[in-house]
Amino acid sequence: MPPFMEPFRIKSVEPIPFPTVGQRKAALDAAGYNLFRIPARAITIDLLTDSGTSAMSAAQWSAMLSGDESYAGARSFERFETVVRDLMGYREVIPVHQGRAAERIVLHELLGPGDISVSNTHFDSTRASVEAAGAQAVDLPIAAAAATPMPFGGDIDLDALVALLGGESGDRVRCVVLTITNNANGGQPVSVGNVSVVRRLCDQHGVPLFLDAARFAENAYLVITRSAGLSDTTPKEIARAIFDLADGCWASLKKDGIANIGGLIALRDEELAARCRGRLIETEGYPTYGGLAGRDLEALAQGLLEVTEPEYLRYRAESAQWFADLLERAGLPVLRPAGCHAVYVDAGQLLDHIPAAELPATALANELYLAGAVRVTELGTLVFGRPDPAGGADIPAPRELVRFALPRRVYTANHLQYVAEVAELVAAKAADIRGYRIVEQSGAMRQFTARLAPLAARANR
Ligand code: F0G
Repeated sequence: MPPFMEPFRIKSVEPIPFPTVGQRKAALDAAGYNLFRIPARAITIDLLTDSGTSAMSAAQWSAMLSGDESYAGARSFERFETVVRDLMGYREVIPVHQGRAAERIVLHELLGPGDISVSNTHFDSTRASVEAAGAQAVDLPIAAAAATPMPFGGDIDLDALVALLGGESGDRVRCVVLTITNNANGGQPVSVGNVSVVRRLCDQHGVPLFLDAARFAENAYLVITRSAGLSDTTPKEIARAIFDLADGCWASLKKDGIANIGGLIALRDEELAARCRGRLIETEGYPTYGGLAGRDLEALAQGLLEVTEPEYLRYRAESAQWFADLLERAGLPVLRPAGCHAVYVDAGQLLDHIPAAELPATALANELYLAGAVRVTELGTLVFGRPDPAGGADIPAPRELVRFALPRRVYTANHLQYVAEVAELVAAKAADIRGYRIVEQSGAMRQFTARLAPLAARANR
């Protein structure tokens, strides 16, 4: 029995597909052994991402009906603005269609060639925007997080930040970005103490501090459960304490907005906000709708109220924790402690007979699909490795991880139990799993389009 109960009942259902073994083999082959290329109609449980995959509440669906679709100054914008101001405390509120639109707009205003953006870890789309502006993205995750479980594995390495800001490239740093939670580093939270020290350092060096706040509510809940003496504090209060320390944020609201599309920029600086609005008009539309429909703004305003509810967040954290236990019992090496939005598994450890160049994380992800039409994300050399400019073997990723992301309010404990059973089948035959080679790839985010081929078993493995 799971130690939690879903704090909702189901009002509207969607059937899930059950492809046969033959259909799964054919789908994977047709997809070039890349799970991104498999149609959703061939997936039973889809844990590819927690982004835009949430189930909305009855209150969100009913709010959508009152969406005001006026081009400028819609009521729905006013409601969205009021909720965001109350939650985050930033006066300037700018909606956008999703997180990367916000990143592109803000980072192109802040950065130019030769500049540096420094972060606990830039998410891949954030890094892409920094680099598109001609600047350099420097990641300073706390080093120990990779090796040992720790409560705030999402923190930025403060010693490294002091050294960078005070060093010879210090005057090229134009912003510090804290990604809460740190998605690229196991979905681990950032502590309030870490943000406070970063604030002080930013003040000393005259550098602004921004949050990539896609999972701000989950971060706040994990801060409460992993700190002493905070049990009487609400997630909303902790979230606000963190927002108070920053100059502004951007966020993909496809995560903690509990909606299917949307994002925002929220700032204190009126002048920066005016420049962002100017840039936004080029690609997103008028600044009171930012590429969204009025009904989307309604769903988001309601979602942002629901996401800080303690009961909801408790269920979210406890179900992730329980799922991590199930996967571990199934024989997978799980990263601890589990965060909220996903459980990460070390494919490099499970498949230590497959070298990084032969994509062990991809191999594990594909086996999970073949065994039970479960889709997860590879976060190993396919995503984070780079082709060698000299034409040699790929430069491998630091770790070969697989992410089991948890869409919000979508799957029940029973569904997760099924995934654990599939994982057990795969773990039992780990020694026989083979690697892959890339046969076709293009661009910086090659994982979305690459085609792969399975490698034949080698006698010496
Ligand atoms: N920042 C973080 C921390 C993210 O996790 C994401 C998206 C983005 C920015 C970009 O937002 O997709 O709305 O443009 N993460 C998704 C994921 C794609 O699967 O983790 P977006």
